[in-house]
Amino acid sequence: EELNAIAPEISEAAKKLDEKTGEGNDFLGWVDLPENYDKEEFDRILRASEKIRKSCDVFIAIGIGGSYLGARAAIEFVKGSLSNLTKKDGPAVYFAGNTIDPDALHELLEICRGRDVCINVISKSGSTTEPAIAFRVFREMLEKKYGKEEAAKRIFVTTDKRDVVGKLKHFAIEKGYETFVVPDDIGGRFSVLSAVGLLPIAVAGCDIKKMMEGAAKARIDFASPDVDKNDCYKYAALRNILMRKGYEIELFVSYKPSFQYTNEWLKQLFGESEGKDKKGLFPASVIYSTDLHSLGQYLQDGKRIIFETVIDTKKSQNEVLVPFDEENIDNLNFLANKDFHYVNRQALLGTLDAHVEGGVPNVLLELDAMDEENFGYLVYFFEKACGISGYMNSVNPFDQPGVEVYKKNMFKLLGKPE
Ligand code: PA5
Repeated sequence: EELNAIAPEISEAAKKLDEKTGEGNDFLGWVDLPENYDKEEFDRILRASEKIRKSCDVFIAIGIGGSYLGARAAIEFVKGSLSNLTKKDGPAVYFAGNTIDPDALHELLEICRGRDVCINVISKSGSTTEPAIAFRVFREMLEKKYGKEEAAKRIFVTTDKRDVVGKLKHFAIEKGYETFVVPDDIGGRFSVLSAVGLLPIAVAGCDIKKMMEGAAKARIDFASPDVDKNDCYKYAALRNILMRKGYEIELFVSYKPSFQYTNEWLKQLFGESEGKDKKGLFPASVIYSTDLHSLGQYLQDGKRIIFETVIDTKKSQNEVLVPFDEENIDNLNFLANKDFHYVNRQALLGTLDAHVEGGVPNVLLELDAMDEENFGYLVYFFEKACGISGYMNSVNPFDQPGVEVYKKNMFKLLGKPE
């Protein structure tokens, strides 16, 4: 009944997205991106990623926010969170420019010492402080190590397409760096399936064609105007119904550590899109069962302002069985020869029941596997649900005026000239 009652609002918001009549409609390039993406640039991304994979041991992607989180999310989702240690071919992929902490930067510079390095600076504006000053450091390091000419072959720039004097694109052309485009009509947090995310993702050895195919499938699956038949609309409806009942926090839950950065990406997607005009759900995240041993108590018995969006992954890539143990000091021989995936799913099912009984509503999303196609599918699902939710709450989901305030203060303190 509640779904039926909210359905007209969903349809109206979806219509605004589809017909591009809502606020922020100049940032809707992501809606048709899985079909309309620049195929020539896509091939160039594939060629550049092959070249990078052959010519370095370490690849550093320099960016922050929307120019960082999507790529990291995709790589960890598909390859695991420790893939830099486990991979058999291609460079280790690290991320810089997402913090101003000198110790984190120093660690990365140490990792680069004595190894061949390529970098990709990713910044739509080209002037964001964190990546810009990190880019200075890595450019200087590369030029000292290889000389300017060879360094230029190892620097890749993803930025706004306009060649304007004093801007990153112009600088890159002057220096002879290969460039890729952040499309005008796609904001940072919606840009993972553009060159912003695709180059680092391909360098990490993921199949970006499959990723785009997954997104294209989602675009078709979630086009149906019927809320009942459209899981994306249904999800948007449920989270808004819960918000209106006083649940102020949406907690994204996964049982896989390789989902951690997808959680981070989700927090940016929803937080920056919905949190404005003193409105919006607060997005938070956990990895269970890890966090059941820290936040589990609060979830079960604390304030009833949270609902959980649980992403249940049907398959794991590897089977690991619990060994039989003669001594059985932990009394867990009843689990002998059971797959960890099975045990993990029972944790999910048990927690789901416990939390729902404890008064924490759960929205359950089922994901087939942690692979490229599913990542692309999931990205599109959440982006569309996010756009719809923003319009339902009468905010512009595609701007982020609030993030400028800290910058103004920081620049004042740093003595930036007017
Ligand atoms: O979503 C956004 O727009 C932001 O998170 C930006 O991506 C982030 O601030 C980085 O901006 P830029 O790519 O211009 O360096």
